[in-house]
Amino acid sequence: MQVTVLSGAGISAESGVPTFRDAETGLWAKVDPYEISSSDGWKANPEKVWAWYLWRHYMMGSVRPNNGHLAVADWQDYADVHVVTQNVDNLHERAGSKNVYHLHGSLFEFRCDYCQSAYDGELPAMPEPVETVDPPQCPCGGLIRPNVVWFGEALPEDAWQRSVSAVTGADIVIVVGTSSIVYPAAGLPELALANGTAVVEVNPEPTPLSEAATAVVRESAATALPGLLQRLPTLLG
Ligand code: APR
Repeated sequence: MQVTVLSGAGISAESGVPTFRDAETGLWAKVDPYEISSSDGWKANPEKVWAWYLWRHYMMGSVRPNNGHLAVADWQDYADVHVVTQNVDNLHERAGSKNVYHLHGSLFEFRCDYCQSAYDGELPAMPEPVETVDPPQCPCGGLIRPNVVWFGEALPEDAWQRSVSAVTGADIVIVVGTSSIVYPAAGLPELALANGTAVVEVNPEPTPLSEAATAVVRESAATALPGLLQRLPTLLG
């Protein structure tokens, strides 16, 4: 059986990683997403953008995968599991998931904004959150940027192709912890449904996907995912 998981920030919420759009705690409640997560924002103030991503990069050292991530990794003992994630954290990998496709990039990859070469050199230290950090420079003269997909940028082709294959080849798609409003990622469950594949949504709140989903589990990821595979026959009737 092939299980494809499409995850968003909500799966990492119970690890203490803020989501983007949760009213009080969401990251977008604290910063302007277009100022901090767009190529225009980068051009206008690379130091501010760097400080924000570097803080999130280092923050990952103090959080751990939760029972939601761990359950998805455990499913690999029973099924062929593919994880399509919008998250830039590394919690799926740290939980033990092998097939993880980062549609929006990663906090652990960096590249030159001019020649696009990958950068694996020294990162600036950040003993505490600061407003600005000077980006490292590439030998070509460009600035090193996070390898994260910003608003208006194209998704990484390889991750996108693997994600589409993972959805079209799935026997079931489990959509967990995403508001399902950011395309093209949000189009993947629609593709599954159009192919007649069951889609189960795991989210304590309703989303635009809820009505079309085959089944909805109004629970948190860490609560719902550990026993979800066993519940599928009942959920899918
Ligand atoms: N378990 C499951 N779902 C949860 C939990 C939880 N413990 N806590 C919150 N959620 C749900 C919220 O109800 C919401 O629907 O997770 C979702 C988080 O939505 P967003 O904050 O919009 O995050 P996401 O869907 O991943 O955002 C998609 O938008 O800003 C861009 O690039 C960014 O990848 C991100 C994309």
